[in-house]
Amino acid sequence: CKDEEVLQTLPVGTTASFYFSDLGPQLTWGTVFLTECAGPLIIYLMFYFRLPFIYSPKYDFTSSKHWVVHLACICHSFHYIKRILETLFVHRISHGTMPLRNIFKNCGYYWCTAAWMAYYINHPLYTTPYYGQQQVNIGLYIFLFCQVGNFSIHVALRNLKSPGSKTKKIPYPTKNPFTWIFWLVSCPNYTYELGSWIGFTVMTQCVPVAFFTLVAFIQMSVWAKGKHRSYLKEFRDYPTLRSSILPFIL
Ligand SMILES: NC(=O)c1ccc[n+]([C@@H]2O[C@H](COP(=O)([O-])OP(=O)(O)OC[C@H]3O[C@@H](n4cnc5c(N)ncnc54)[C@H](OP(=O)(O)O)[C@@H]3O)[C@@H](O)[C@H]2O)c1
Ligand SMILES: *[C@@H]1O[C@H](CO)[C@@H](O)[C@H](O)[C@H]1NC(C)=O
Ligand SMILES: *[C@@H]1O[C@H](CO)[C@@H](O)[C@H](O)[C@H]1NC(C)=O
Repeated sequence: CKDEEVLQTLPVGTTASFYFSDLGPQLTWGTVFLTECAGPLIIYLMFYFRLPFIYSPKYDFTSSKHWVVHLACICHSFHYIKRILETLFVHRISHGTMPLRNIFKNCGYYWCTAAWMAYYINHPLYTTPYYGQQQVNIGLYIFLFCQVGNFSIHVALRNLKSPGSKTKKIPYPTKNPFTWIFWLVSCPNYTYELGSWIGFTVMTQCVPVAFFTLVAFIQMSVWAKGKHRSYLKEFRDYPTLRSSILPFIL
């Protein structure tokens, strides 16, 4: 059956039998994405404002003297606010619902890593990047470039689907130069996401951030390879130059 079909309207005769499985409480994907994104946003800010019981009491509600800490907070918040707005206004989510219990699994990881990164970046004893302002700026440029790229890809993917329809098309580069990477990879949104996190790592020079970047890269490669394979299967004329996530490499 298709997801949308309602039981009463299905064409069944008197002899047909039905087998059901109750999937338990369900959430829409939109709700899932929103909880996934709102968590890290709020958690990070709790560390940024140094709420009590996080660092030692004398640091409660103080703020860091390093400019990069404030910049990192802006970038981190921007990243998740962008995701929330995209979920609300850009994505056309085609799949149905997800069991409630999965949300704990999905969110647990994002929320814990956000707390881990935020703890170190906002720590009173945080040390700024080795190469100073220059390194921070380079990280920031990489980050911003990839955020714009990622957004461009999401808009391009949105325009590929008409509302309500489920037909799949091959994404191609559009007039926007940020989408030209579609000539080389199948999932440029993940390529750009990786780039953003590399930028954030360079900017903050913080081990938990580097770790998160690595894990995100592995996870996204798995998704990207799956998507790439399904594109190849679905479209006989799929461009052969494309890799999954890293041009010419992976
Ligand atoms: N298990 C997986 O293979 C898998 C893969 C990717 C993402 N995810 C989940 O997605 C979240 C973050 O990834 P993301 O930001 O790239 O989001 P995403 O799930 O890729 O973004 C939602 C959009 O992706 C498509 N989509 C994603 N997975 C789909 C699936 N299994 N079946 C059909 N359509 C799917 C939908 O459009 P289209 O249907 O047109 O693609 C939808 O518009 C994670 O929480 C993760 O759990 C899971
Ligand atoms: C990222 O790109 C892949 C491949 O085009 C797509 O399946 C997925 O839905 C995209 N993610 C978002 C959030 O649009
Ligand atoms: C980029 O796209 C991915 C998947 O489409 C999304 O999960 C992620 O939050 C986006 N990253 C950035 C840096 O905006």
